[in-house]
Formats: sequence, structure tokens, C-alpha cells
Amino acid sequence: MGQDAFMDPFGRKTHFLLYEICILAIGSCGAVTVTVPNKLILGIVGQPLLLPANYTTGTKDQNIQITWTFQSQSSGSMLLVTAINNTLTPDMEHGHRFFLSPPSASLLINPVEIRDDGEYTIKVTVSGVKVASASRQLTILVNVPVSKPVVRSDPAWGAVEYVDNATLTCTVNKGTKVIYQWLKDGKPLKPSSRHIFYSDNKMLFISPVLKDDLSNYTCVAKNPISTNESEPIAPKIYYGPYDLMVKSEPRFKVREGVFAAGKGEPVWFKCSANSNPPNVYSWFQKADNKTTPIQLGPVLNIKSEKVPEKADYMCCVYNNITGKRDETQFTFILSATVIKEELYRRSQADYIQARQVSEEQEPPLDDYGIYEFVAVPEAAEFQQVRPDKLSTVYDIIRVPDVRTTVYDVICHSPKTS
Ligand SMILES: *[C@@H]1O[C@H](CO)[C@@H](O)[C@H](O)[C@H]1NC(C)=O
Ligand SMILES: *[C@@H]1O[C@H](CO)[C@@H](O)[C@H](O)[C@H]1NC(C)=O
Ligand SMILES: *[C@@H]1O[C@H](CO)[C@@H](O)[C@H](O)[C@H]1NC(C)=O
Ligand SMILES: *[C@@H]1O[C@H](CO)[C@@H](O)[C@H](O)[C@H]1NC(C)=O
Ligand SMILES: *[C@@H]1O[C@H](CO)[C@@H](O)[C@H](O)[C@H]1NC(C)=O
Ligand SMILES: *[C@@H]1O[C@H](CO)[C@@H](O)[C@H](O)[C@H]1NC(C)=O
Ligand SMILES: *[C@@H]1O[C@H](CO)[C@@H](O)[C@H](O)[C@H]1NC(C)=O
Repeated sequence: MGQDAFMDPFGRKTHFLLYEICILAIGSCGAVTVTVPNKLILGIVGQPLLLPANYTTGTKDQNIQITWTFQSQSSGSMLLVTAINNTLTPDMEHGHRFFLSPPSASLLINPVEIRDDGEYTIKVTVSGVKVASASRQLTILVNVPVSKPVVRSDPAWGAVEYVDNATLTCTVNKGTKVIYQWLKDGKPLKPSSRHIFYSDNKMLFISPVLKDDLSNYTCVAKNPISTNESEPIAPKIYYGPYDLMVKSEPRFKVREGVFAAGKGEPVWFKCSANSNPPNVYSWFQKADNKTTPIQLGPVLNIKSEKVPEKADYMCCVYNNITGKRDETQFTFILSATVIKEELYRRSQADYIQARQVSEEQEPPLDDYGIYEFVAVPEAAEFQQVRPDKLSTVYDIIRVPDVRTTVYDVICHSPKTS
């Protein structure tokens, strides 16, 4: 993928260089041909680099001159080395790094340096009866391998979602012609309205940050000869609270937002919300139109002999960095006997038996029942509850009354789990 980005500019350059100069002096050009297998050669600084070249000549008994010249924008054109027959004449200035071993026409550069970047021409001239010459050009790109990139995240203390911006900056100590790419959780990150790339992709600007940006980012630095990848970095993002909820033991849950327990039973409630940094939790009791703070911390323990028969409790969460808060409320009912558990366990036969008992007499105080309405039951009403209704389970808490048995229907939605 990144390969294309590398090859394209070079590809065009090579294409541009795809020509052969054939100078006619005396005689025909066909007398000498020069071939170079690669028009583009990539070099690594400090290492030897071979520029392969071949030539053929038509006739024997003639002088053969091989000449390598170098052209670059900074240094212009210069002679590197020349050989007539097998006698080498190195250039005094550059000869110590450029080696030619005639009759081979290939040039060895050792060690190659950054300033060797440029175009090279090999020219082969034969002179006997006739003089003919041919030349070829090739391009050398010398690069320093990319060192491991390092990513810095700003602001270092972190960023508040929807408020702050974050900048990730990728730097490499070594490497030439480096191009940068960003990965989010290993996948290429594309620019978007919130993700902007600056300084040739060296910088990733996220504006504003969201919780969704909380991921591992890596910077990939490449050049034509190497690729190196940073350690993943996750910017600090402050967010939340989200997904606030209160949990207790399932047996205490009557329905969403309503819990019940028998007197004397120890009950705990755990409040949780997704937030960074962790929330500050506080609990309140709402009874008799009064809201009373109870305690701090995510867990509330209720000693059920010491609480009102029915009270609302509130868990408040506060993120002291984002400044956002949330609260949720539930009802806790204390009952002399909680019968719903027992109810779920009873079979249809039990139920029918219980119904028969109900029809015959006033239900005994410690029995249970299933009713659709809060009511002072009459014998006739019991008969309205048909056994096929058993598939629907009602959560009932019985509140004993002085004269008669009152069944308070807490929930009349079918139990789903
Ligand atoms: C030069 O010719 C030789 C022999 O034909 C061949 O083995 C070699 O690969 C050629 N080199 C180049 C650079 O064309
Ligand atoms: C180069 O070699 C050819 C053929 O071997 C020979 O005829 C010619 O004299 C040589 N030239 C020089 C300058 O030594
Ligand atoms: C990345 O760079 C480090 C030096 O910073 C080097 O040791 C390592 O070999 C490089 N990795 C690759 C894949 O080039
Ligand atoms: C975040 O960047 C936007 C521009 O994208 C700028 O208008 C805003 O002031 C920046 N917010 C902060 C907190 O720097
Ligand atoms: C980043 O990666 C590490 C290691 O795979 C993982 O433990 C961590 O949860 C990740 N962080 C994020 C924000 O995805
Ligand atoms: C913010 O809340 C965190 C987590 O509860 C706590 O550690 C920190 O001390 C609080 N900071 C301030 C400034 O209140
Ligand atoms: C609670 O307040 C409402 C109206 O604000 C009032 O009608 C009700 O009597 C109050 N209940 C108690 C128990 O104080």
C-alpha cells in the first residue's frame, strides 16, 4: 500500500531517464552497446553499492574507454573514474570511494554516502578504425534506515472529551525521506473531520477528543529502504460517567428499580458507571420527602432492620475532571416475608392446591397468592385467576393487614429470565 507512494515519484523519474544516448562519431552506433539492468538503485548509507553495467563491442583490436560520471543538482557534473583498456584512472577527488575493475563496466561505491544521490552515466567508447560510443544513465537514491519512531501525546496530562484537543507527534532520530502513517489499534487511521494530519503526517490532531479515541496508536515511519514502527501509545482521555447502574443480589430484585428484602436480611447495592478518572460515588436516602446523604463509595450496605419499610435510594456519580454527574434512583421495600422466591419455585399442582384452599377459606396468613390487582380479595376474585395464567409469574409482596390479607402487586410483568 505504502509501496505505491514510494515508487510513484521514482517511477516517473526512471521513466524520464529511459533513454539512451548514442553518439555517432565515425562509423556506426551498432559497434558498441551498453546495458544497465536497473535504472533505479537504492543505497543504504555506509554500505557498499554496486552499479551493474555491461557492454558489447563489435570489433576487436581497439581501445576501449569506460567512463563513469555523476550529475546532481548540488554538485553538478563530475568525472568519477575512467579506464582505457584495463588501465584505471581514478579521479583524484572521488577515486577513493569509486571502484571500477575493467573489463567489467560495473561501478562499486564503498561506502555509499547521502551525497551520492543523483544520476550516473556510464559511457563506453571504442576506437579502432572507427570511433563509436554509447552511454546509459541510472539513478541512485541513498537513504538512512529509519530508527524506531517515538510518539508523544499532548496535552500530557490528558484531554477531556468534547472539550479538549489532542495531538500525537511522531519523531524519528534517524532516517531520510521518511513518510509517516498512523495506525489505530493496528488499522490505518483515515483523516476525518476530527482527525487531521499535519506536517507531512508527522502529527495527528484530534479535535475534539471523544471516548472513542481511546485506543492504541502507532506511528509507522518508512522510507524506500526501511520501515519501523513505534510502540503503541494510548492518549489519556477523560470521559463519563456513562452507563450508570445499581446492582444487588438477583434475589432482591423485584423489577427494574425496585428491590425488596425481608427484615433482618443484609442487603448490598453496588453502583457502577464507566468513567475516567473513576467516579466519586455518593448515596442518598429519600424518605418522607427528605433527602439524606448516607455515605460515599460505590457499595451501599443496608442493615434492613434499621431502614424504613419503603424508601428511595439514590446513587450519584461525579467525575471530578469532566465535571459531569449522573444519578439513579431505586426503591427498597422491606417486607415481613418475601414470598416471590417461593412463588417461582412452586409447581402448578401446588398452585391449584393453594387455589382450592383459597376458595374454601380465608387464605392463611403465611400462604401466598397471585393477583393482578392490589385488592382485598373476595372468594370470587380468587376464581378469576385461572391456572393457565401460571405461565405468567407475578411478583408479589404480601403486606399483612389487621383485618384481612392485602396483597400488594409490585410487578405484573412476566419474569423474562
Ligand atoms: C553482464 O553480462 C554477463 C554475461 O553475459 C551477465 O552474467 C551479467 O548478468 C550481465 N550484467 C549486467 C549488469 O547486465
Ligand atoms: C587496448 O587493447 C587493444 C586490444 O587488445 C590494443 O590493440 C590497444 O593497443 C590497447 N590500447 C592501449 C592504449 O593500450
Ligand atoms: C527500528 O529502529 C531500531 C533503532 O531505533 C532498530 O534497532 C531496529 O532494527 C529497527 N527496526 C526495523 C524493522 O528496521
Ligand atoms: C481545539 O481545536 C479547535 C480547532 O479545531 C479550536 O477552535 C479550539 O479552541 C481547541 N480547543 C482547545 C481546548 O484548545
Ligand atoms: C492497548 O494495548 C494494550 C496491550 O495490548 C492493552 O492492554 C490496552 O488495553 C490497550 N489500550 C487501549 C486503550 O486500547
Ligand atoms: C478526583 O477523583 C479521583 C477519583 O475518585 C480522586 O482520586 C482525586 O483525588 C479527585 N481529584 C480532585 C481534585 O478532587
Ligand atoms: C411530601 O410532599 C408532598 C407534596 O410536596 C405532600 O403532599 C406529602 O404529604 C408529603 N409527604 C410527607 C410524608 O411528608
